[in-house]
This record gives sequence, C-alpha cells and structure tokens, in this order.
Amino acid sequence: MRTTSTFLAAAGAVVAAAALLSLATAACTGAPFYRVSFNFEWTPTTHPNSYEPSAHFSPINVAAHTDAYTMWVPAGYATPGMKDVAETGSTAALRTSLAAYEAAGHVTSWATGAPGPVPPVTTESLTVRVNGEAGASLLSGSSMLAPSPDWFVGMSRVQLCNGTSWLSTASGGLGLWDAGTDSGTTLTAADVATVPPTAIRRFGLDEFPQFGQMYGTWVAEQI
Ligand SMILES: *[C@@H]1O[C@H](CO)[C@@H](O)[C@H](O)[C@H]1NC(C)=O
Repeated sequence: MRTTSTFLAAAGAVVAAAALLSLATAACTGAPFYRVSFNFEWTPTTHPNSYEPSAHFSPINVAAHTDAYTMWVPAGYATPGMKDVAETGSTAALRTSLAAYEAAGHVTSWATGAPGPVPPVTTESLTVRVNGEAGASLLSGSSMLAPSPDWFVGMSRVQLCNGTSWLSTASGGLGLWDAGTDSGTTLTAADVATVPPTAIRRFGLDEFPQFGQMYGTWVAEQI
C-alpha cells in the first residue's frame, strides 16, 4: 500500500509539473515574425580613444529559441561558435551549432548576415520567427566588434512573450562583452589565447578607454 501511494503521489507531482510546463510554454500562441535590427554607432566622436580607422562589426546573427538553447549568456563560457564570432567574426561554427539545435527543435528560426565587414555606423536587420507552441519565445544574437581580441555586442535570451501576448517591440543597448577566450587588452592587440578561458563578462565604464559604453542599440519589432 505504502509503495502504491508513494507511487501515486509521485505520479501526481509529475502530472502537475507537466501541466505547469505546458502552461508556461503555451502562454503565447502562434508564430509571429520579428525584424531584429542592430543599430551600430561607433565613431571617433562617440568613442574617443577607442576607435580604429578600420573599425567595423562582423556579420550579425540572431536566433529564436527555447530555454534549452543558449547562444551566449553573461557569466557563462563561450561556446566554440561564440569564440569564433568574438575572435574572428566567423559564423561558420555557430551556424553548424544552430542547425543542430534547430534539428532538435530547440531553435525554431535563425539567420546570419552576409559575409563581410559591417560599417561602424549603420543599421543591419535580420528576420526570425518565434513559436509559442514549440516554446520558442527567446531571442539571442551577436556580432563582433572589430578589430578587437574577443569582444562582441548582442542580446541574450530576451523574452518576447509577456506571459500572454507577444511583445510588439523589445529593445536594448549594445554594450560590449568580453568572450573570455583572448587576453588582449586593446583593439589591435596580438592574439593571446586565454587558457583556461574565463567567463563572458560585460566591460565596465571605468575600463580604459571606456569600453563599457554602448556601441549602439538593438530593436526587435513584430512584423
Ligand atoms: C501582455 O501584453 C498584452 C497586450 O499588450 C496586455 O494586454 C497584457 O496585460 C500584458 N500582460 C502582462 C503580464 O504584462
């Protein structure tokens, strides 16, 4: 008897947990598209002492995904894909990973910009599609600040479902993050691999020369 009631109690907890999970994932229905824009602003005026004539950004990338996928996260460690994005701007490894998570159902939509440098003052946009039924209501994206050792900008795990409805817009600043894989301290420093890697962290305003300031803004608009 005891075994049976313990089993029933456990089964009840599993059912309750499953019900909670489906409530959480089914909160927003449908699969709307979002246009995600990176509004880059990096000039000698906005960033005195931290500008190079060759200043640019790398091809942007964005993904709509479930809780099970992480492109990058503050205090986490850079994946091989994010290490490449942050150090070289290459999205090849990131795209391989995105395709694998897409096949597993954890990324519902993703896009990367055309190869080549992105001007330091420009707006670049990509479109992705969230999916309420698939539980994919999070948005992540990134782009390398270049030249730099392993510094990047982007957004991480932005929730586009407010619990019942899809947000019409979401936005934020493009602060600068250190991927923790190269120890160079200036824009044009030679490669110095960080072994072992350190965690991804946001630059502070006090870090010379004001790396902590914004390099523009990002906007996600439901279309
Ligand atoms: C979510 O957004 C909808 C539509 O704008 C609004 O009616 C609702 O109050 C919002 N819910 C929360 C929890 O903010």
